[in-house]
Amino acid sequence: MTPAPTLHFLITAGPTREPIDPVRFISNRSSGKMGYALAEAAAGAGHEVDLISGPVAIPVPADPRIRLVPVESTRQMYEAVKARLGEADVAIMAAAVADYRPVQVSSQKVKKSQQGDWVLHLQKTEDILGSAREALGFAGFLVGFAAETENLEAYAREKMKRKRCDLMVANDVSQPGIGFDSEENEVWLFHADGGCERLPRAAKTVLARELVRIIERLARDRMRATST
Ligand code: PMT
Repeated sequence: MTPAPTLHFLITAGPTREPIDPVRFISNRSSGKMGYALAEAAAGAGHEVDLISGPVAIPVPADPRIRLVPVESTRQMYEAVKARLGEADVAIMAAAVADYRPVQVSSQKVKKSQQGDWVLHLQKTEDILGSAREALGFAGFLVGFAAETENLEAYAREKMKRKRCDLMVANDVSQPGIGFDSEENEVWLFHADGGCERLPRAAKTVLARELVRIIERLARDRMRATST
């Protein structure tokens, strides 16, 4: 039997940082472990991977099939995705992208002595996943992650529809020991056709291998369906 052709994965991972001044920024608790585990799993299954990563403390992956693209801000992550999405068969957006950035970035450190209360005026950042279909013209298999603390299914399904994903991977980040900056995770998969399945709590590396197997199968089914 001829082996199935290699797929090209684009994966986002880690947090983004939005500067306030030269020493301060807005960010979140993402460690990048989930996204890097997905990149290792996809490369381990023989696929090519563009890993677009915010600032993390994880070593550069050794697998030569993984091309690491380090970025810092949401705008840089958006530009890196935009430049590479056209080559991808599968895009998995596991990054915890900062939703807001300060409207004004001070070029000098803001001194405490100048401040009473400090009110920051924030504006929305680019919605990278939400731009994939229309603005960036991505026609491949699109996977979003949903980090929720309540109403997991309703919120994840709403995001999946609004951002036009084929699959939404939802994690309850209010649960101790899973989600942000932990070794383990537990996820629900919501499919665009209405189906759902649960992958029980396991190491992110184990879950990532299972996720890649599922995503690879669904992506190939979709490719076959659209080519006939
Ligand atoms: O990095 P770890 O410490 O291992 O933690 C893993 C994780 C909890 C970060 C990961 O499992 C996860 O849930 N990632 C998505 C986090 C998130 O930002 O979720 P969200 O529900 O706010 O966003 C929904 C989707 O839109 C995500 O695919 C996100 O990448 C994307 N998004 C969000 C905002 C934005 N401006 N652009 C985006 O592309």
